[in-house]
Amino acid sequence: MKPLILGIESSCDDTSVAVLLGKKILANVTANQDIHHDYGGVVPELASRAHQQNIVPVVHQALTKANVKSKDLKAIGFTSGPGLLGSLLVGTSFAKSMALSLGIPLIDVNHMQAHILAHFIEHKNMESPIFPFLCLTISGGHTQIVLAKSYFQYEIIGETMDDAAGEAFDKAAKIMGLPYPGGPLIDAYAKKGNPKAFSFTKSQVPAFDYSFSGLKTNVLYFLQKEVKDNPNFVQEHIHDLCASIQHTIVEMLFYKLEQAVEHTGINRVAIAGGVSANSAIRNKLNTFKNWTTYIPNFEFCTDNGAMIAIAAYFKYLEGAKANMNVLAKARMSVTQSNMAK
Ligand code: KG4
Ligand code: ZN
Repeated sequence: MKPLILGIESSCDDTSVAVLLGKKILANVTANQDIHHDYGGVVPELASRAHQQNIVPVVHQALTKANVKSKDLKAIGFTSGPGLLGSLLVGTSFAKSMALSLGIPLIDVNHMQAHILAHFIEHKNMESPIFPFLCLTISGGHTQIVLAKSYFQYEIIGETMDDAAGEAFDKAAKIMGLPYPGGPLIDAYAKKGNPKAFSFTKSQVPAFDYSFSGLKTNVLYFLQKEVKDNPNFVQEHIHDLCASIQHTIVEMLFYKLEQAVEHTGINRVAIAGGVSANSAIRNKLNTFKNWTTYIPNFEFCTDNGAMIAIAAYFKYLEGAKANMNVLAKARMSVTQSNMAK
């Protein structure tokens, strides 16, 4: 009998809860937090307060949608890190009390591993990768090329030294006066723009690492200069600006990814994390005909409870669980797997 597992994600600004039966989704319910729109980024204190308001109704909705009684659950998975500490604490405390009251295992999940493990959710149009594979994990907080050796064995091949790719999108959007999160808006505007209209800095750093902070500064100085001459510059060129910024980020991501494929000799390549919803990145990945590529469905790119539940499922199969003293951790590497039984 396949286990029913509940997964709770609360590491940033989405409260998301899923119920999985084995690897199959019965429900995946997310409450987004609109409150951050006008701030250009997530405000941690507002995020934790919103999680507190959302968590009970979202868990309730997920169980109702899945048509599952909490007494039938076999384990509770939750994000223990990395992320915003206040936000993580809401999910962690809730998961602990729910597991305790039901008398079932509590399973701590590493958010960065969960983004990668989302590829193993059983879903139409999605094929699970074969180990070992490379995963370009691109989110609001991380940008990494990870070598996935097994469900819980990872090696970082390269990562950003400053801003993440998602931050580069969001900060560039903020400079242009667009609301948070800017990534999806840049993606949408870019569809009607010329990616070569403007040229921006592509920072060079050694090996397979990334640096995106120079791009943000470059966009800022460029626009300050242009807006001085024409106050409507951004509005008049929004499509070309978005297309050019997006093109720069995509080129930077793939330049290092191609090198990593060459260096490791591994041509099974996945993408994961919120920025993997980007249409230019998805299109570009499809052009590498000699790679086997894995592109997650949109619903599994940005933070979601299903990725937490699938990671918890694989830990459940190994008998790995957290004890009640487990702490939420703001910083946690993708390489960290707690497999204690
Ligand atoms: O993985 P995620 O939901 O949260 C973190 O773990 O950080 O990623 C959120 C990031 C944000 O920076 C958002 O702007 C970006 O993903 N994002 C996108 C797109 N959709 C979401 N960036 C570019 N294009 C998109 N279509
Ligand atoms: Zn994430």
